[in-house]
Amino acid sequence: MEVVIVKDAKAGGELIADGIADLLRRKPDALLGVATGSTPLPIYDALIAQVSAGSVDASRARIAQLDEYVGLPSGHPESYRSTVLRQVVEPLGLSPEAFMGPDGSAEDVLAACEAYDRALSEAGGVDLQILGIGTDGHIGFNEPCSSLASRTRIKTLTEQTRVDNARFFDNDIEQVPHHVITQGIGTILEARHLVLLATGEGKAEAVAQTVEGPVAALVPASALQLHPHATVVVDEAAASKLKLADYFRHTFANKPAWQGI
Ligand code: F6R
Repeated sequence: MEVVIVKDAKAGGELIADGIADLLRRKPDALLGVATGSTPLPIYDALIAQVSAGSVDASRARIAQLDEYVGLPSGHPESYRSTVLRQVVEPLGLSPEAFMGPDGSAEDVLAACEAYDRALSEAGGVDLQILGIGTDGHIGFNEPCSSLASRTRIKTLTEQTRVDNARFFDNDIEQVPHHVITQGIGTILEARHLVLLATGEGKAEAVAQTVEGPVAALVPASALQLHPHATVVVDEAAASKLKLADYFRHTFANKPAWQGI
């Protein structure tokens, strides 16, 4: 696992956007897996800036959503479909056809999960998956004790995650759905490169357990240890509980560790 410690969230976003730009130069129609939430916004901002400046062409990029709330009416502004369209697809100038995601308002949610998992494979698989991490160690919405082999399926959010996400719903936890569709951990592990960004002290414990703890269903992000090409980008605050922080600084600071994205 590459663990890159950066000064702050902006630096992390720029580093990852550079990696995505490199990928798009090599593979213009790369399938980018995107997470939602606050953490990846600096990545999207930096990538959109590069595209606007003409330093990378993203016009053939394809975008795949990681997870979705179940039961929000279609078009709800906080659905992850709406969020990804607003934050990534539209600013990159892509058409909605370049975007794929699970249908959280489907009548048959189980069928929608299976269909999405299949669609990801049929699209050739995700080239680079951007991940955030929950304070409880979740990736996507794979909450603690998710099977490390899980596929796209319906999950129940923990109370902690609903509290964490209430800020997107007028700080009213009652509005936060209980159920979600999420790519499973086994599905996520099929992406060719996993890039997890974590920023802020609130993520420090989850990062330490992910990077230095045992692989355990209790910390779903620890499954990244099983992936041959996983990069964890953390700011100083999120790195504050890493025992090996100095080693990571020494190893990955001055060279583009992830040149081969
Ligand atoms: C959402 C997702 C989640 C978030 C995580 C952290 O698509 O994948 O795993 O990344 O809940 O959220 P933020 O970044 O808002 O702290």
